Amino acid sequence: MSVNMVENSRQKFDGYAEQYDSWFMENANLFESELRLFKKTLGDISGKKLLSVGCGSGLFESYIDCSQVEGIEPSRDMGEIAKKRGVNVICFGLIEDVDLPEKSYDVIYFNGSSSYMEDLVPVYQKSIAALKEGGKLILLDVPKESAFGFMYLLGKSLGTYDHAYLEGTMPALPYPLALASSGVWHSTEEKIEVLKKLGITKFSFYQTLLKNPMYTNEEPEEVSEGYKSGGYVAIVAEL
Ligand SMILES: C[S@@+](CC[C@H](N)C(=O)[O-])C[C@H]1O[C@@H](n2cnc3c(N)ncnc32)[C@H](O)[C@@H]1O
Repeated sequence: MSVNMVENSRQKFDGYAEQYDSWFMENANLFESELRLFKKTLGDISGKKLLSVGCGSGLFESYIDCSQVEGIEPSRDMGEIAKKRGVNVICFGLIEDVDLPEKSYDVIYFNGSSSYMEDLVPVYQKSIAALKEGGKLILLDVPKESAFGFMYLLGKSLGTYDHAYLEGTMPALPYPLALASSGVWHSTEEKIEVLKKLGITKFSFYQTLLKNPMYTNEEPEEVSEGYKSGGYVAIVAEL
């Protein structure tokens, strides 16, 4: 990877730590829905060793016992907050550049971070190799094909959410345009295909944010099974 690409990835979230956290705090019901999905897919983590790839500010981890959670985070701003929240940030860098020990983790998860990675094959391959037998790789994301995905891609291509095409359809507080625009939005099927090629055969799927974006912050939603309707979807791949 070139120095420029590394710098670009760092810059994506540098300077946005505060805005990122406050967006979730201002969208408290949306956050609660995503948190329920996060907790549901992690399950019982007692005695387990976890790795959060792109742990950001450790916002979600601050709602679980994160004493056994290691983190990798390229943005210094975000990672420093995660450290304060109790995540053991083992590297301020990109997952692409890290050597992970083999068969070491019970759970490796990417909470929203795959959406900022171009090539998922090497990073998922590396993660699978670092999992113990029976371990889980959990991928939580906004699917490209969801209403949220469409909204972000339209905002990205228009360079604004404040456009006649979007009039009367937007949530009161949309995700910061700069972060929506720097995303590399992937579809759920695309990620499933990558995992199948890497030998994964055992899958389960959970989703939340089934309502259209302008209504998602009205109340927290329950987690449901599947991946074809949600604005936030979890793929749980078991080894
Ligand atoms: C949408 S944020 C999610 C942060 C956190 N996991 C959460 O759920 O609040 C995506 C995070 O992935 C990180 N990221 C982007 N590219 C990455 C890469 N190649 N390796 C590791 N982390 C990356 C970003 O810096 C950012 O903190």
